[in-house]
Amino acid sequence: MKTQLIFKIIFVLTIGFGAIATYAKIIDSSTIKAKLDVMLIQNDPADAKFPIGAKIYKEKCIICHMEDGKGIPGAFPPLKDSDYLFADKVRAVAQTLNGSQIEMVVNGMTYVAPMTPQVDTKEDAVAVINYVLNAWGNNGGTVTLEDVKNVKINPR
Ligand code: HEC
Repeated sequence: MKTQLIFKIIFVLTIGFGAIATYAKIIDSSTIKAKLDVMLIQNDPADAKFPIGAKIYKEKCIICHMEDGKGIPGAFPPLKDSDYLFADKVRAVAQTLNGSQIEMVVNGMTYVAPMTPQVDTKEDAVAVINYVLNAWGNNGGTVTLEDVKNVKINPR
């Protein structure tokens, strides 16, 4: 009887500690990941490389596309790791200038909310798109004013 009880206690303790250890591991890895994300935002080399674009982003885009560029799933599409963005940089400049009212699929998720025109000049649109193409670990290359010479700015 007594040995059985001891075994029961050992059993409960083992399961208990196992659960705590697993839980601690989950907490720990998500905390570390969150810290890394913050570090990435704070020491983003794109801020120094594209200062004008960074300023525009923080003033105008951050409210929807978020500080980490991940947007709000289902509402505002991500610019970090966005397959849609990387597929067509000229289109991204045009959308920043003229807004966008289409249904789009970004990284497998559908977005239908419209975006109003965000900037008024091609210089600003190119600056901010070059920033987002390279912020948050993006490696999306750059776009030039020459590349967007055929983009029309719609009347406001
Ligand atoms: C009020 C919210 C809002 C703001 C502010 C905003 N956007 Fe958007 N953005 C959206 C929405 C919504 C879409 C999807 C539009 C659609 O479906 O036609 C979008 C789509 C995009 C896309 C194409 C989709 C993608 O993920 O690649 C780009 C590029 C983009 N925005 C860039 C910008 C930039 C740059 C700024 C700032 C200058 C900005 N946006 C400001 C809401 C916003």
